[in-house]
Formats: sequence, structure tokens, C-alpha cells
Amino acid sequence: AASDPDLVERARAAKAALGDRVFILGHHYQRDEVIEFADVTGDSFKLARDAAARPEAEYIVFCGVHFMAESADILTTDAQQVVLPDLAAGCSMADMATAEQVAECWDVLTEAGIADVTVPVSYMNSSADIKAFTGKHGGTICTSSNAKRALEWAFEQGQKVLFLPDQHLGRNTAVLDLGLSLDDCVLYNPHKPNGGLTAEQLRDAKMILWRGHCSVHGRFSLDSVNEVRERIPGVTVLVHPECKHEVVTAADMVGSTEYIIKALDAAEPGSKWAIGTELNLVRRLAKAHPDKEIVFLDRTVCFCSTMNRIDLPHLVWALESLVEGRVPNVITVDPETEKYAKAALDRMLALP
Ligand code: 13P
Ligand code: SF4
Repeated sequence: AASDPDLVERARAAKAALGDRVFILGHHYQRDEVIEFADVTGDSFKLARDAAARPEAEYIVFCGVHFMAESADILTTDAQQVVLPDLAAGCSMADMATAEQVAECWDVLTEAGIADVTVPVSYMNSSADIKAFTGKHGGTICTSSNAKRALEWAFEQGQKVLFLPDQHLGRNTAVLDLGLSLDDCVLYNPHKPNGGLTAEQLRDAKMILWRGHCSVHGRFSLDSVNEVRERIPGVTVLVHPECKHEVVTAADMVGSTEYIIKALDAAEPGSKWAIGTELNLVRRLAKAHPDKEIVFLDRTVCFCSTMNRIDLPHLVWALESLVEGRVPNVITVDPETEKYAKAALDRMLALP
């Protein structure tokens, strides 16, 4: 649906009044009405870099989810303030690993005698606490666009990796990019004593995968892939690595949101694509490429409900508050957490 013209005008006016004092970042899963006002759009990795590259902007308005705003706060200067237009924009995957659970897991690894040979690698989609844990234990952050390099780096530092919190990105990268076998991976369930694993299983494993997942990408199934291949002969199936292993294995291509966008930019006119990622992005891509047939991989509607929390009314409210001299919904990470989380993020940014 078209945006309310009054709100569009107010957003424009507030943004113009703030000028270079504000920098608006938009993740690819945001609504069109929000993307329209973003100074830059990107995947989690690109946005982390873009936030760090704007020291002159007093306010970073982050149109994305909470963990991204936290990362932006960690990577920007102390004088800059990061605003999340709706504080309810969290991420169910990030919530699947709490600091207490991860500390307990590290105790289990210590008991099994493997903590000192294990390197934590945490997906960007995690709280600042988890990033700090990662930094404290010599690990790195990764995103879906550099997970392969992050894992290669980690296996140069130690014998095992504890991968948090997305089991699918961890498994897909280990098996498809690093050539490990499924048997090299074990699943640590934070809701079971000792993660539901024996000390022997932990000692035998190369990848210890945290039992977290994305509820949006978890909806795609092997049936969705088979069904779309039947429905659209010659279709290329392109999915995000947060999808289940069986879905990624059955697909033709796999990559981050930025990768998906570039693949479609490079695609031949007339080519047919089924995309397995969040629906705002897929719809925008279909609109941007009328010469290609681009469909959503599943027949059910699949938005990320927390990404969608950021809408035009929230953006207008945030911008107008800034114009009036109030800074709403500031996301701050405490200095101790920030120090270690930054160490882990800096390691990621320094990956070759
Ligand atoms: P990327 O933008 O890094 O591909 O991540 C997708 C995602 O789920 C963000 O929450
Ligand atoms: Fe979290 Fe999945 Fe939404 Fe990304 S798409 S913010 S991983 S719930």
C-alpha cells in the first residue's frame, strides 16, 4: 500500500531539518516506506561498517533490529547516539542465547577439558553480552557474508569452534564451505543439562552448534524447494544460509542478503528465480527486476515481524523528536561489555 502522503512529507521535512547531523541506516528486510528514507541500505556486515564510517553524524537512526543498533553503538564514537525507532524491534534468534546460558555452556566445555582449545564464533545476530563473551574468549563475530572466513580463522586459532546462536549458519558454513561432515557437528541445547551432550561427544566434535535458529528462514522446507521446481521449470533457487541444511543443500545458490541482491542484478533477463529470504526484500527485488521472474520460495507469507515493527510512523516520530531536541530510544552498551564486544567485532572487520 502507498504510504500516507502526510507522513512522507513530515519524514522529508524532519530529515532535511537535521541535515548531516543524522545518518539513517536501513537493513534490507525493512519496509519500502522506511527504505525510502535510508541514507544507506545493506546487510548486517555492510551496515556495521557504514555506521563506523560516519563519525560526523550526531545521531545514527538504525532501521533494523536491536542487536544491529547495539553493534552500531559499539562501533561508533562515544559522542554519537544510536536510535532504534521502536524498542520492540528485537530478534527471536538473538534472544535464544542469553549471557547466563552461554556462561553455563563454557563451564560445560571446561569440565569436558576442551574450553582452552575452543574458539567462540558468534553470528552478528546476538546480543552485545554474547559478543563480549566472544571477545573475552579470543573469538570473532561473523555475518552471513563472511562466515566462511571467520570459521577458517577460528580453526587456525584452535581445534574446535563454539558457534552461536544460529545452528543453521554454523552447520551450513562448516559443511558446505569448510568440508566438515555432519558428524563433526554436535548440537548444544541450552535447555538441557550439559547441553544434552556427553563429555565424549563434546571432545569428538569439531563444531559445537548452539541450538538457535531464525523463525523466518525456518519456515522454508525441502517441500518448498521441490514444489517450486515443479511449478517453475528452469527456476534457480537462491536461499539465505539461515535456512535449514536440507534446504540449502537442495538450493542452487546460497548467500547473504547483499549476495542475493547482487546475484539478481547480474542475472540474465528472462531468468527465473525463487528466493528464500524475508518477504520485504523479495518483493522489492521482484519490483526492481520486471524483466526477470522472481518469486518467493514459499507459498506462505514470511515477513520478519520484528523488522516490520519499524514503520513510517515510528521513523517520523524518531526524526521529529530529534528535531525538537529530544533523543528517543537511545541504544547504549555499557563500557565493560563494549570493550570486549568491540574486540570481537574488530577481529571480524580485520578478517582477510
Ligand atoms: P544479512 O543481512 O547479514 O544477510 O542477515 C540477515 C538477517 O537475518 C538479519 O537479521
Ligand atoms: Fe532475527 Fe530472523 Fe528477523 Fe533476522 S530475519 S532479525 S535473524 S528473526
